[in-house]
Amino acid sequence: MKNDITTRRDIEQLVNTFYDKVQRDAIIGPIFIHVAKVNWDHHLPIMYSFWAGILLEERTYVGNPMMIHEALNKKSPLLQYHFDSWVRLFYETVDELFAGRNAEYAKEQGSQIAQLMHHKMRESEQ
Ligand code: HEM
Repeated sequence: MKNDITTRRDIEQLVNTFYDKVQRDAIIGPIFIHVAKVNWDHHLPIMYSFWAGILLEERTYVGNPMMIHEALNKKSPLLQYHFDSWVRLFYETVDELFAGRNAEYAKEQGSQIAQLMHHKMRESEQ
């Protein structure tokens, strides 16, 4: 039986597994690797804090994800199929590792933020 997401360690496992998949994904992998040239040692701890803020009510994340993705969108447009891949990989990762209320909440938040991000981008392009 799988456990729910309840500790910082769980968050780290979720984030590490997710970005392993992201890097190997043919659709969104290249955006991280070739467009943004992500420094993973820098990015992963930021993502631990981001998700620990949402799922464990930790208050260490400071940043503006919307702005960062808008800037990325200008370099390489983030389209519906990119967001679909992001959400698909995120759901797959959560379901592979965890089960429970927080696991469901993580998927809900992931897909809602993806929708909002995409919507804001299209809005700012008009
Ligand atoms: C098409 C989908 C997406 C792509 C291609 C994408 C790509 C990226 C890239 C390249 C970065 C910058 C990393 C760096 O330069 O350090 C980033 C940062 C980030 N992304 Fe995404 N992202 C996507 C969707 C999402 C979604 C749906 C969420 C939230 C649920 C999210 C949350 C974040 C956060 C919190 C950061 C860190 C911002 C900061 O540095 O404060 N991303 N993303």
